[in-house]
Amino acid sequence: MRKPIIAGNWKLNKTPSQTVRLIEEFKPLVREARCEVVVCPTSACLFAAREALKDTNISLGAQNVFYEDSGAYTGEVACDSLLELGVKYVIIGHSERRQYFAETDETVNKKVLKTLEKRLKPIVCVGESLAQKQFGVTEEVVRMQTRLALSGVGVGDVEDITIAYEPIWAIGAGMTASSTEANDTIRQIRRVVAEIYTPEASQKLRIIYGGSMNARNAKELLSTSDIDGGLIGGASLKGDLFAQIVNAV
Ligand code: PGA
Repeated sequence: MRKPIIAGNWKLNKTPSQTVRLIEEFKPLVREARCEVVVCPTSACLFAAREALKDTNISLGAQNVFYEDSGAYTGEVACDSLLELGVKYVIIGHSERRQYFAETDETVNKKVLKTLEKRLKPIVCVGESLAQKQFGVTEEVVRMQTRLALSGVGVGDVEDITIAYEPIWAIGAGMTASSTEANDTIRQIRRVVAEIYTPEASQKLRIIYGGSMNARNAKELLSTSDIDGGLIGGASLKGDLFAQIVNAV
């Protein structure tokens, strides 16, 4: 059975001291969590977060990583540094990185391969834009993004991957996909994974939903057959609200 996972994507929010305060606020509230709990602060806050997360049931995640180990790549962060900082998960290919930082399916794939080589666990984001949804090509878009992201990944590594289905039109919009819509697309993504590998392998990888998930709609989304958790932006920035989502699992 796949263990559900709830990950907070804090985006470009919180300084190191604010990060520690937020962790202190919600860590007692999620002590009984029946899922994996992950927080992804900015790179500059990872060290502070690691200290605050010691002896808790909460894992640390990063929001990005580079696909080379070292060299002349000003501004980038390598897997080895993340590992030293106690990072376990890395969000890869978030739509904001694709939109503002020229992330492509090709760089997403390189990052997925590098994180798996380094034994970090990628959370790979896929999802359609509003225009693509209106053209009725959601399935084609997520199918292509998934195939490209997983290109060259061996079947043995599949269980270390989490895919986050995040319809771009729902991110930060206060508008979620309906639970049926999200569940259907997630089922399609799992079908693609089964085509690339085997049906058994596709049952091992977690596929979660992201896009305005909050304390009010989490229960419904999480009670569907195929949604294995959530990637939470805005609602993960308030300790009590984030804890309510975690405890909805
Ligand atoms: P949101 O963000 O929950 O604020 O919509 C989700 C995400 O971008 O991962």
